[in-house]
Parts: sequence; structure tokens; C-alpha cells
Amino acid sequence: MKNIKVKLAGRSYPIYIGAGAFDIALADFAKLASERRRVFCIADPAVLKAHPQKAERLGKVTEIIAVPGGEKTKSVAMFGRLCSELAGKRADRKSAITAFGGGVVGDLAGFVSASYMRGVNFYQIPTTLLAMVDSSVGGKTGVNIAEGKNLVGAFHQPRAVYSDTPFLKSLPKRQFAAGMAEVVKCGILGDAVLFKRLSKFGGGMGFDSPELEWAIARACSLKAKIVAADELESSPEGGRALLNLGHTFGHAIERCAGYGKYLHGEAVSIGTVMAAVLSRRLGLLDDSSVSEIAGVLKGAGLPVSLRKPIPAGDLIDAMRSDKKSVGGALRFVTILSIGSTRTEKVSENTVRRAIADFFKL
Ligand SMILES: NC(=O)c1ccc[n+]([C@@H]2O[C@H](COP(=O)([O-])OP(=O)(O)OC[C@H]3O[C@@H](n4cnc5c(N)ncnc54)[C@H](O)[C@@H]3O)[C@@H](O)[C@H]2O)c1
Repeated sequence: MKNIKVKLAGRSYPIYIGAGAFDIALADFAKLASERRRVFCIADPAVLKAHPQKAERLGKVTEIIAVPGGEKTKSVAMFGRLCSELAGKRADRKSAITAFGGGVVGDLAGFVSASYMRGVNFYQIPTTLLAMVDSSVGGKTGVNIAEGKNLVGAFHQPRAVYSDTPFLKSLPKRQFAAGMAEVVKCGILGDAVLFKRLSKFGGGMGFDSPELEWAIARACSLKAKIVAADELESSPEGGRALLNLGHTFGHAIERCAGYGKYLHGEAVSIGTVMAAVLSRRLGLLDDSSVSEIAGVLKGAGLPVSLRKPIPAGDLIDAMRSDKKSVGGALRFVTILSIGSTRTEKVSENTVRRAIADFFKL
């Protein structure tokens, strides 16, 4: 079991990683109950069904509210329904909310926690690899609107995160691989030791790999360090924006291919290879590093090329309208070497050439 601290300006919180994290959650919630504080658990029914014994134990110390799984659940309508349900159940300011599920339930429950009674304590029990290494860390919460994903939300840091890795046993392989994309990304962006270890494995890991807990902890530590230094993503260069490695291209791929065609992690995997190719075109990265990056992602069961080509112009238009783009400029996280990255503006011409390079890989 590993315990990482996210050190914020005002306070810090723990992330427990490994078998046994769930027991710590139950003990913490039981303690809250003993102080007459109610804990509401916003849960993904797929996880309740896949882990009935754990769900039963959770039901003894929390009041479970199941919401349908899937991205559609991250909506303003569901947010409103949950707030009304909490009010109907007479949840008060001392009540707490825990998420029990993947990133969808985590983002939604987090936003409800940030808003209900102007903010109640929030906990996370992430059950997907993506949620364990990415969405449960850092305090970003929110819902989607028709105009775009995650356009409405708030920063609301959890009190604790309990990443109980045995939950991953029931996670479909494709979802597991999508989470690995964020682990590999962390290695490339700031942890060469993590990347080297993944490379030694050829990228592949399963829910029962002895190194998995270590890899999740390395990825979380890196994200925790970056978040601690730039909690609200206000740093003009570097900072939290570094976590977007592969995401400028990745978001454009998701948008151009049509949402749902690629899982987010799959688009990030392809986007990371594109970012590596762009870095090579900028004279920062050599051929062998580009191949190594693509090799590790492929070894993790992730796509490194597009199933169907997308015209460069379409990708560039999508990148200009990304919510993270400022004034339509094309900004990227570029790779100086494995484990070292920076944010920079890149001309449209260079991006076009890099996309052409990528199609020739
Ligand atoms: N807040 C952040 O910083 C942040 C960062 C990255 C992604 N996100 C958000 O996270 C969401 C994606 O998260 P996700 O990939 O976890 O998706 P998800 O929550 O939809 O989970 C993926 C699928 O796995 C199922 N599932 C979850 N746990 C399971 C388990 N243990 N066993 C079997 N099935 C299980 C779910 O029912 C779902 O079908 C997106 O909405 C994205 O915007 C947020």
C-alpha cells in the first residue's frame, strides 16, 4: 500500500494506493458517521454490480445513490437531479460526498460536492485506471454541455482518494489500456525512471502486475507535484498545462473522428506520438526516442496511428477551437527528452509538416 500526499497551499490530502485502500475509506466514513456526519456515495452501477461484497460494505457506512454510467451522465440535468435528491434527503453542510466509479462519476460527484450548500467535503474511490492516475487527482470537477466537454465545473479538491487496485480486475482491457496512456504520458512528461521501467516491460501491464501499484503511485506523485505548484492552472508556461502532453492532438482527434470512436486514452496515445513527431520536427527529439515512445504505447495495447486518416486542416481547425487554446494560437507540450517537456507556441506551417511526418511513420 502506498500513501502519497497532495500538498496544497491551504491543506494537504492523502491518496492511498493498493489493496486495502478501500478498507481505509470504510474506516474513514465510519468515523464520520460516528460524528453524526452523513456520507452520500454517488456510484456507477457497473461497479456496484461487479463488486457486490464491497458495495454491500460501502452501503453500511454511506447512503448510495446510483447514477447511470457513461459520459452522458456528466450533464447539467444529472447535476440538478443529484442536488435535488440530496436536498430531498436533507443532506446538510456537514454531510460529505464520495464518488465510487470512474472519471465520469468522479467529475460529476465532485461538481455536486463543490456546489451543494456552497461546498461539502468530497472523497473519491476511483475504480478505473484512468481515474486512479488522472481524474481523481488535482481537484478538477465538472459536467459537459452541448457546446463542449467539461465546459462547466469548479476546482474542488478531495479530502482523500482511495485507489483500491483490486477494483481493476473487472475493468475491460480496452479501458485499462486507456488508463495506461496517462501513465506513459506521465513518464514522458516528467519521470524518466517510470518511462524506463515501462519500456523494460514493453509497455504491457495488467491489473495483477506486481509493478502496477508502483506505476500508479509514480504517476500520481508527478501529477500531485505539478498540481501543488500550479493548483488553478494559472502558470503562463509549463505548470499544469504540461499534463496536456498529447492532449492538443488527442482532443482534435476525438472531435474530428466523432466522440466515442476513440476512447480518450486512445486519442491521447496517438496524440502523444504526434507530439513526439512534432518535437522531432522542431529539432528537440531524435528518431530513436520517437520510436521508443510509440513502442511503449503500442506495448500497452494502445493505438499509435489513426484508423482512418484525418485531413491536417481539420485537425488544425479543431485545435484552434479547443477550450484550452488561447486566442486561437496553436500551443503544444513539446518533448525535449524523455522525462523533460515544455509548453510552446508552434506555427501552423510546422504543425502541418509534423502531421505529414506522422502519416509517413
Ligand atoms: N477531472 C479530471 O482532472 C479529469 C482528467 C481526465 C479525465 N477526466 C474525465 O474522466 C472521464 C473518463 O473517465 P473514465 O475513463 O474512468 O470513464 P468512466 O467513468 O466512463 O468509466 C469507463 C467505463 O468503465 C466502467 N467501470 C468503471 N469502473 C469499473 C470497474 N472497476 N470494473 C468494470 N467496469 C468499470 C464504467 O461503467 C464505464 O463503462 C471523462 O469524463 C473525462 O472528462 C477528468
